[in-house]
Amino acid sequence: MVGFFIISLQIILNIPLNFAGCIMEALKMVDKEVYNAIVSETKRINNGLELIPSENFPSKAVLEALGSVMNNKYAEGYPGKRYYGGNEFIDVVERLAIERAKKLFGAEHVNVQPYSGSPANLAVYFAFLKPGDKILGMDLSCGGHLTHGAKVNFSGKLYNSVFYGVDEETNLIDYDEVRKMAMREKPKIIVSGHSAYPRKLDFKAFQEIAESIGAIHMADIAHIAGLIVAGMHPSPFPFTDVVTTTTHKTLRGPRGAMIMCKQEYAEIIDKAVFPGLQGGPHEHAIAAKAVAFKEAMSQEFKEYGRQIVKNAKALADALMDNGFKLITDGTDNHLMLVDLRNKGVTGKEAEKALDKAGITVNKNMIPYDPRKPFDPSGIRLGTPAITTRGMKEGEMKDIGNYIAKVIENIGNENVIKRVREDVIELCKQFPIY
Ligand SMILES: Cc1ncc(COP(=O)(O)O)c(C=O)c1O
Repeated sequence: MVGFFIISLQIILNIPLNFAGCIMEALKMVDKEVYNAIVSETKRINNGLELIPSENFPSKAVLEALGSVMNNKYAEGYPGKRYYGGNEFIDVVERLAIERAKKLFGAEHVNVQPYSGSPANLAVYFAFLKPGDKILGMDLSCGGHLTHGAKVNFSGKLYNSVFYGVDEETNLIDYDEVRKMAMREKPKIIVSGHSAYPRKLDFKAFQEIAESIGAIHMADIAHIAGLIVAGMHPSPFPFTDVVTTTTHKTLRGPRGAMIMCKQEYAEIIDKAVFPGLQGGPHEHAIAAKAVAFKEAMSQEFKEYGRQIVKNAKALADALMDNGFKLITDGTDNHLMLVDLRNKGVTGKEAEKALDKAGITVNKNMIPYDPRKPFDPSGIRLGTPAITTRGMKEGEMKDIGNYIAKVIENIGNENVIKRVREDVIELCKQFPIY
């Protein structure tokens, strides 16, 4: 009832709410600049189409846990074995997060303390490798992540990294090629997982390749964790040695990560996270992870996961109907990579023009891209956030047409303005915060 009155008051007076549904009175008084930026960001989210595949909109429950007093506590160590007093309630949330994650994925052991995806991957390397040891990961330009051995990243500077890519014709991973590379290079860790590969991964094949050379297989499921939970992508469990994931992408939780592994690696993984790499865990984020995992166990989440993939296929079809070339001619997951070369537009130009229309995407390299990363030939799009808003296949068709209109009319401010108006109208039908 109180919540109803607050929301009614907010609507009548048009006072912005923060994500947890409370009026941000204290913040407004203490720091007008930050307050204004949050209000503007909330408006931007509400009035725009978020198509960056790694982004999502967690629930108010998740954001409430994130903005709670759990932020305040130092809790170095693990539940029941802390280096600070006063952790009885902290232990409750961390244990909940661990148990729920185990159940959700069928994992033997879970560490929910990694601050984010990059430190989670670093912790795994730290657990199994010495500086100079070899990692075999997916090439960044073919869809891998920076932390899979890219030369500009700690993973490529601290370790000796070699890469598999995708087939030049099909743009698909060639598992025979990965096997040959593994035999030749004898890496200590093989990384599967991606940030920009539109097809399903064969985790079993990666595990078999790793086992055949005595390497550890680390599956980084950051992008697809929510799809795995929803049964829309094959799971790397129970056979994969170590699995890392962020919790804020398709899994729709707070920014953060976790590491899941076979029981035999539990101790070295836990020691690598703390005291190896991190200090005090962010227990407000861990509380929010626990909430997100509970939500992910629901039927509603499974439906959301199914809809993400249906929406991605519908958006891919709408783009191809408009003459766009998609890498691998479509998608099996939540994302697609558009090769813009036949449209005579670069990724940077497309990103900028779409931004003006309120459609947020990111420029992205395509496999074997002749252009440079800062102005590549492609854009990457994904459907998790717009699916969370409740959009379905019909809206995907409209969005595909909006994207085509903008990209085919770069420089025509009138057309872009009209698309912006259409985007605002569409967003109004699917309010989020
Ligand atoms: C596959 C993959 N792993 C790891 C990360 C790193 O996560 P974070 O940005 O939270 O450090 C990302 C982020 O985009 C990712 O896509």
